Amino acid sequence: MTEINNTSLPIGVFDSGVGGLTVLKAIREELPQENLVYLGDTARLPYGTKSPASIERYAIQATARLQEQGIKLLVVACNTASAVALDALRRQMEPVPVIGVVEPGAMAAVAARPGGAHLVLATEATVRLGAYREAILARDADAQVREQSCEMLVALAEEGWVVGVIATAIVRRYLDEAREDSFVPDSIILGCTHFPLLRATIVAVAGEGVAVVDSAGTTAAVVRQVLDANAILNDTEKPGRVQLLATDGVTRFARVGGFFLGRSLTADDIELVDL
Ligand code: DGL
Repeated sequence: MTEINNTSLPIGVFDSGVGGLTVLKAIREELPQENLVYLGDTARLPYGTKSPASIERYAIQATARLQEQGIKLLVVACNTASAVALDALRRQMEPVPVIGVVEPGAMAAVAARPGGAHLVLATEATVRLGAYREAILARDADAQVREQSCEMLVALAEEGWVVGVIATAIVRRYLDEAREDSFVPDSIILGCTHFPLLRATIVAVAGEGVAVVDSAGTTAAVVRQVLDANAILNDTEKPGRVQLLATDGVTRFARVGGFFLGRSLTADDIELVDL
């Protein structure tokens, strides 16, 4: 079992693919001295179209890999896995704290537009479970919530096609569908960790006055609070190490992951692992 009070242990960050690197980047900016290990389950992406039973099984296996290596905190940097499997992962990791991204995303949206009309863009599985609706309404009973599944945006992000004619047309198609029945959102929640890459396109299509929020920054702030509350902040001046693991396609991971992290990666930066 992990010794939770070993402050130099890494924070584990897990996603179905490269999207969670947006959360890793925010944690790195917030806590540069922390060691981080990231696991992208690229072999089984996408999670968003799978059944809850499969998603939970995959998430448990990915978590077990990080648990074996030893981590002091787990960040489930995947909205789909957070929506489906957070309770199971908390039981698995106990006493190591586990943070999902749905609650921080809901907090960010409610802070940006109290009493607002929120449009959640997410995967099919996240929408089916109504995880954002529940999290937003628990914080703000006056809010309105509409959830829209946008599977093609995952593929666009993975491909790196995040601006231009094709990305704009697909984003417009989803937003038009969500705005049927005169629903006028004043916030759009990027309820999938892949979607921050498409932020510029989504902002342009949404138009002025709509707050576009994601969970990365709020999650990083929650990570700091939880480390602090458990007295496990890494108290060193040295910059932390970042280890990147993937279950398939390290060359593609490096190419696409570079977009997400905002720096270039090569296949040698990624370790291939089997779960
Ligand atoms: N990163 C996942 C999420 O945040 C979406 C990608 C997938 O479907 O696996 O929901």
